[in-house]
Amino acid sequence: MPPKILVTGGTGYLGHEVIKVLQGRRLEYELLGRAQGFDLFWPFQIEERFLKRFGESKGDLLLLHLAAMSRYGRCQERPEDASRVNVESTGAFAHCIRSLGGRMVFTSTDLVFDGEHAPYGEKAIPKPLSVYGETKAEGEEFVLEDSKGLVVRIPLLYGPSFDGQHGASDHVLEELRGGRKVHLFSDEIRTPLLVKEAAEALVALALDPGVVGVRHLPGPESLSRFELGHRVAKEAGLDGSLIVETSRLEMPGPPRPRDCSLVRG
Ligand SMILES: NC(=O)c1ccc[n+]([C@@H]2O[C@H](COP(=O)([O-])OP(=O)(O)OC[C@H]3O[C@@H](n4cnc5c(N)ncnc54)[C@H](OP(=O)(O)O)[C@@H]3O)[C@@H](O)[C@H]2O)c1
Repeated sequence: MPPKILVTGGTGYLGHEVIKVLQGRRLEYELLGRAQGFDLFWPFQIEERFLKRFGESKGDLLLLHLAAMSRYGRCQERPEDASRVNVESTGAFAHCIRSLGGRMVFTSTDLVFDGEHAPYGEKAIPKPLSVYGETKAEGEEFVLEDSKGLVVRIPLLYGPSFDGQHGASDHVLEELRGGRKVHLFSDEIRTPLLVKEAAEALVALALDPGVVGVRHLPGPESLSRFELGHRVAKEAGLDGSLIVETSRLEMPGPPRPRDCSLVRG
């Protein structure tokens, strides 16, 4: 019997693509978002609501937990909120899923690493520099307590978004189309991946119960946002000369990692 698929974060950038993949595969799913009464700012409510709704399930639940406070700067400004959403709520879901014998798949990030020892394999130990990275690394631990759990570390995502406002490329294209300059780091390296490809790979891993522990989903090459910006501008036939090279060292706030390139294995 196929598992009952539950999805948090289905209204987000990656979530929209994951839903398309599930629909394309004709798989039934249920959203667990704010509209369904699952607000992650209130972690203590999650267990009660989840068990009330799914408490009769017997080992056939598959939770794709994508929801997160995902903005780097916002997490840094509001660490307590970030902890509630990214850590405590993940812990609450993990506890429910484990008690019901289901499987939880958690989307984490390359930003759990400090950027000094790239490329990072799946056995590398997280050493985050930011509140965002810290809270995602703490969330991972809850999921990995269960032998069925899966943590999928995702790099910088790009590609068209549902509202034209998400991901690493939409903003760049909007600015260039408007004839405005856009400032991008040339000294923060990641392994960017198309959001559509990330969603397809994530669903495939999630549906294979033999895939447990930590998996990385690197894009094909290591690139800075500056290099990525030039690629997407060229592909769209836009003028890349409006892209201004900047340094992550000029950014206020927490240090940003130099190179968080991921590798498989
Ligand atoms: N985008 C990237 O480049 C990237 C890179 C690495 C890892 N990731 C990870 O991938 C996952 C998805 O990221 P994304 O880019 O799709 O994020 P996103 O576009 O910011 O979407 C975040 C999702 O989380 C939900 N959410 C946020 N706060 C919530 C709360 N208090 N209660 C309930 N739901 C809440 C949002 O729901 P509402 O619509 O109701 O706000 C939305 O569905 C996250 O786990 C993120 O850490 C993303």
